[in-house]
Amino acid sequence: MAQINPSILSADFARLADEAEAVRGSDWLHVDVMDNHFVPNLTLGVPVVESLARATDIPLDCHLMIEDPDRWAPQYIEAGAGSITFHVEAAAAPVRLAREIRAKGARASMALKPGTPIEPYEDLLPELDMLLIMTVEPGFGGQAFLDIMLPKIRRTRELIARHGLELWLQVDGGVSAATIERCAEAGADVFVAGSAVYGAEDPAAAVRNLRELADKSSAVAWWACEH
Ligand code: DX5
Ligand code: ZN
Repeated sequence: MAQINPSILSADFARLADEAEAVRGSDWLHVDVMDNHFVPNLTLGVPVVESLARATDIPLDCHLMIEDPDRWAPQYIEAGAGSITFHVEAAAAPVRLAREIRAKGARASMALKPGTPIEPYEDLLPELDMLLIMTVEPGFGGQAFLDIMLPKIRRTRELIARHGLELWLQVDGGVSAATIERCAEAGADVFVAGSAVYGAEDPAAAVRNLRELADKSSAVAWWACEH
């Protein structure tokens, strides 16, 4: 079943506990950490993740858009994150980092910016629990979905199938009721949605609607039919 991870980047930062409650039934809460170096925007850090982990039962999916994730990732696990995504463009030693994240008890995930190809990282996939394909340039919510990422999603799903991996494939950026079906058809099974969820009148209903659309598309998709 498709997983829907609302991004709190589009939530009210002064009311994060309520905003988590507003998306009850979501699989994960997506937390965008930005340092104004790796991306031209600044959001939140370890203390906020620590408080949020105490305030909600929904597990936290921390997307680190920061320099030096090798140094910072362990602190986010200690703060309570259940999944850590680092950017391959920023990591000094992605294999060592993925192993350290797993050893500390969190799920290890690696993100690719739109201009970063998947092919050089094929041999690294068994080290990961999730791969994130960015469908916008990271840094801001509310941007338009990049359709040109669909072939990369498809090729990544093919690699996962070829190697028989239990790897989740996440998409992040511009995912909405208008674009989620294309992502699911191409091979994504974890969907981040910020503005499409928190911009809706009823965020929990928006999550249910997105999940239904994704489930319908993936049920008939080539990559799901094979199992
Ligand atoms: C962008 C962030 C996304 C962002 C998505 O850099 O990584 O998680 O919140 O927002 P929407 O869904 O509005 O594109
Ligand atoms: Zn994100």
